[in-house]
Amino acid sequence: RTVVVLISGSGSNLQALIDAQNTPALPNAKITLVFSNRKAAYGLTRAAQANPSIPTAYLALQPYLKANPGKTRADYDVEVARIVLRENPDLIVLAGWMHIFGEGFLELADGIKPLNEGEEPRKPVPVINLHPALPGAFDGASAIERAFDAFQKGEIAHSGAMVHRVVKDVDRGEPLIVREVPIIKEEAIEAFEERLHKVEHEIIVLGAAKALDLERPHQACTHLSFMIDL
Ligand code: GRF
Repeated sequence: RTVVVLISGSGSNLQALIDAQNTPALPNAKITLVFSNRKAAYGLTRAAQANPSIPTAYLALQPYLKANPGKTRADYDVEVARIVLRENPDLIVLAGWMHIFGEGFLELADGIKPLNEGEEPRKPVPVINLHPALPGAFDGASAIERAFDAFQKGEIAHSGAMVHRVVKDVDRGEPLIVREVPIIKEEAIEAFEERLHKVEHEIIVLGAAKALDLERPHQACTHLSFMIDL
């Protein structure tokens, strides 16, 4: 199965996916492209340095709009969809992706609209996103800081992270993997953030495997052991 990963920053979640390729956590899955909306994203370096190295591409929004007067953000989203869907992936993963797509991207990924006029409709490509908060808790940007702040105010007892299907409403798609992450009184936000990123690195792989409907060997043996117990 092939996977395209979209990033905007350090790519530590991308690294988790790179490391999980062809292991029991993510069997027969190959990342065939890493795309970023920022040229300086360190995740692009991680892809280039992977063994075997992974093709990369980037297209930043502002330079695109400057270079194409009259084009809009919606045109940019379609252009990104073209670059990504040209790989014909089985799954698109938004991992530390900091750009909110308009409907144009999803209409192409879902196969609702053909990539080029007159083309045959395409199979829908599932899109999943990693969000560092619990479903419906802190949708949108700065979720980590907002959760930490809410904890300091006694508004929440813990936070979490999730991998969910991408739908047009930001961070509102069906959760695939949800993991709670405790926040500890008096700790600095860095300590909470470190704990949360470790959880993200686990659930991004679990989410990708689930979205790819991969029957993982250990999952099979779990059933087996269950039967033996019986
Ligand atoms: C992560 O918390 C991710 O959820 C957020 O950006 C942070 C860094 O991700 N969107 P990465 O290291 O670039 O994967």
